[in-house]
Amino acid sequence: MAETAKTATLTLDGETYELPVLSPSAGPDVVDIRKLYAQADVFTYDPGFTSTASCESAITFIDGDKGELLYRGYPIDQLAEKSHYLEVCYLLLNGELPNKTELEDFEYRITRHTMVHEQMHNFFRGFRRDSHPMATMVGVVGAMSAFYHDSLDINDPWQREVASMRLIAKLPTIAAMAYKYSVGQPFVYPRNDLGYAENFLNMCFSVPAEPYKVEPALAKAMDRIFTLHADHEQNASTSTVRLAGSSGANPFACIAAGIACLWGPAHGGANQACLEMLREIGTVDQIPEYIARAKDKNDPFRLMGFGHRVYKNFDPRAKVMKESADEVLDLLGVHNNETLQVAKELERIALEDPYFVEKKLYPNVDFYSGIILEAMGFPTSMFTPIFALSRTVGWISQWKEMIEDPTNKIGRPRQLYTGATMRDYVDVSKR
Ligand code: SDX
Repeated sequence: MAETAKTATLTLDGETYELPVLSPSAGPDVVDIRKLYAQADVFTYDPGFTSTASCESAITFIDGDKGELLYRGYPIDQLAEKSHYLEVCYLLLNGELPNKTELEDFEYRITRHTMVHEQMHNFFRGFRRDSHPMATMVGVVGAMSAFYHDSLDINDPWQREVASMRLIAKLPTIAAMAYKYSVGQPFVYPRNDLGYAENFLNMCFSVPAEPYKVEPALAKAMDRIFTLHADHEQNASTSTVRLAGSSGANPFACIAAGIACLWGPAHGGANQACLEMLREIGTVDQIPEYIARAKDKNDPFRLMGFGHRVYKNFDPRAKVMKESADEVLDLLGVHNNETLQVAKELERIALEDPYFVEKKLYPNVDFYSGIILEAMGFPTSMFTPIFALSRTVGWISQWKEMIEDPTNKIGRPRQLYTGATMRDYVDVSKR
């Protein structure tokens, strides 16, 4: 980042402070307040960090007003159409698109890290069968640090790279195992002759009792869903991974923390919540009642899959996802999918309603993804695990960028304290 000639002036209690203004390659200028507390003995206050840049990053750029999303400068719609997930993983991790040899080497290495230590199968058996797969994934991914001792040293670039490859390669295997465990079917091992998305679908839906062939168009749609979810700037779960990583925690523990944060319905859990909402609405004629509830300040109900902390225009991922939904449902011959009809009518009505227009509430990435995943045969409980396995490359790329930043130090926000000021202890006999 470069300092500009500009400065921001803060006047407080008769004192004036000149704060440097830093210029990004894209997006708003940044007022550098790193020395403010030392100079002026004041904190800034920004719960939810809506006006705060927590770090410098060169990975993903979002323009919420234009509805733009770039991975290392490449627009998401171009990558979704022309690239594929493992190439996007290479791009996010390394900053440039790979040449043919680099791509072949990367795909070869990922493919041969997809199996998990056989002992890890026992972890699953400690969970109830009806555990939410996200609970299983948080546990098993965190436990990877109990197995892969040769990729825990965050100060060793080679160990950082091995941990990154292991996480990208093994998350689909772990997610598929969580699903198989929840439906009482045997685990299916990864296969090196299958592509990344094809392998995941095979591990989820094949059974030892008969041959199984993944429909290529479904594998392509799955791969596109992975790409659309791969990274998204400093969202809640990525910020969690960065904060955990800033303490020096190992990469597996940091990714487990990211999975835990993603689970929330305001974040990655929204795809499950959105489909459950569409099912609850049931039919198109019920939509006005739910629109009214979403607008009612006394009703905590929100339209899941709508709105975004950053996008105040259409989420570009939702546009691509909507096209995929049409393609997948056509392919599966599920033309009269009631849930999709409700989703499209809900989108149409909401985008005409002044409440949603004024508050710039548009469908986000989670609005259509659940419809595709359900049509593919996934239960709603698997929607967020699929988001988590897709986002692992974004989390680990952001973690790597932070670890390699020489100015990196432990994250330690302060607070606006409004509790009791100092007072002496009173013995219970006098209370
Ligand atoms: C993801 O950050 C990321 O990048 C996340 C993500 C990623 O890739 O990592 O994009 C993935 O998490 C997508 C978002 C998924 N969440 C949902 O779909 C849940 C439903 N959406 C809302 O919870 C909400 O829109 C948020 C949490 C997504 C965004 O919250 P904001 O921007 O802080 O919005 P807000 O809570 O300040 O609301 C602004 C206004 C409020 O009304 P007022 O108080 O101003 O009167 O809009 C209203 C809200 O009540 N509002 C909604 C609404 N979302 C906001 N009203 C009805 N339905 C909604 N969905």
